[in-house]
Amino acid sequence: MAKLPIIIDCDPGQDDAIMLMMAFSQRDKLDILGVVAVGGNVPLDKTGRNARIICELTGHTDIPVYAGCVRPLARDLHTAVEVHGEEGMSGVDVYEPDMPLQKKHGVDFIIETLRAHKDAEVVLVITGPMTNLATAFTQAPDIKSKIKEIVLMGGGRTIVGNVTPSAEYNIYADPHAADIIYKSGVKTVTIGLDVTHRVLASKARVQRMKSIGNKVAVTACNILGPYSFYDSDKYGTDGGPLHDPCTIAYVLDPGLFTTKFCNLEVETGSELTLGHTSVDFWHGMPESERPKNTHWAYEVDDDGVYDLLYRCLETFS
Ligand code: BDR
Ligand code: CA
Repeated sequence: MAKLPIIIDCDPGQDDAIMLMMAFSQRDKLDILGVVAVGGNVPLDKTGRNARIICELTGHTDIPVYAGCVRPLARDLHTAVEVHGEEGMSGVDVYEPDMPLQKKHGVDFIIETLRAHKDAEVVLVITGPMTNLATAFTQAPDIKSKIKEIVLMGGGRTIVGNVTPSAEYNIYADPHAADIIYKSGVKTVTIGLDVTHRVLASKARVQRMKSIGNKVAVTACNILGPYSFYDSDKYGTDGGPLHDPCTIAYVLDPGLFTTKFCNLEVETGSELTLGHTSVDFWHGMPESERPKNTHWAYEVDDDGVYDLLYRCLETFS
């Protein structure tokens, strides 16, 4: 079967790092055209470095890593170092990788790569602020037709926010970019907090992962330790939500998620609710003529996501 061409846009980030491990383990199915880093959980120099550390850890140094945008479109960078640590990957000994960063800007890479593909061919996976793709859309609107779908982690409806009472981190960090993506007319699949908060990295699941025993699985567990503690303490759950790997789980096996085609609007004006995702789940506003623009994930087979993650990590043995 032909491999699915994908571009991964991320801000590693602990859960981003596990998302990359998952994706790299499936290169027989995924044609990973490149990884683009963005300023997000930690500044860009660290997200680009961390992505390359995961390439080296997993032995996938032939995957090109690009640096994209340093900061959001219209506001200052709001990091999440309180969750991910100052270096963005608590639990991992970070270092300057031998593998170089590509010289080309990540936005130019996205534009040129999409232009070289056929219509509706490439999947974009985004697990950080959406600054890179929004910038690419603004500079080169013609590339939109080349995208099959954008699978992104962001937003919340029943679990409304994790960085403010109203907003999820990736959307809050760059709401103007998210607004451009959702208004682009390109198919989007939104994996938000409503599902990721059910994919908990419980002690039993981390133990199961540790038993896989190879260095990638052990690193994933080392990452999940501090990451999970932060969110377990905050939410009073057995383990924190494993957000970003859900995007790759969706790409590999969409049946693990149930989605509904809805209208989603991003709040870009209010100081109080900046980055809020207003999801018209019930299509309940007769006066609303806002178009349906995203496939909103609202159910997840969480055991299935973990089974898939274990299988991915086992490939590194
Ligand atoms: C998202 O925010 C980031 O801190 C995580 O990496 C994830 O992408 C969850 O809200
Ligand atoms: Ca992320």
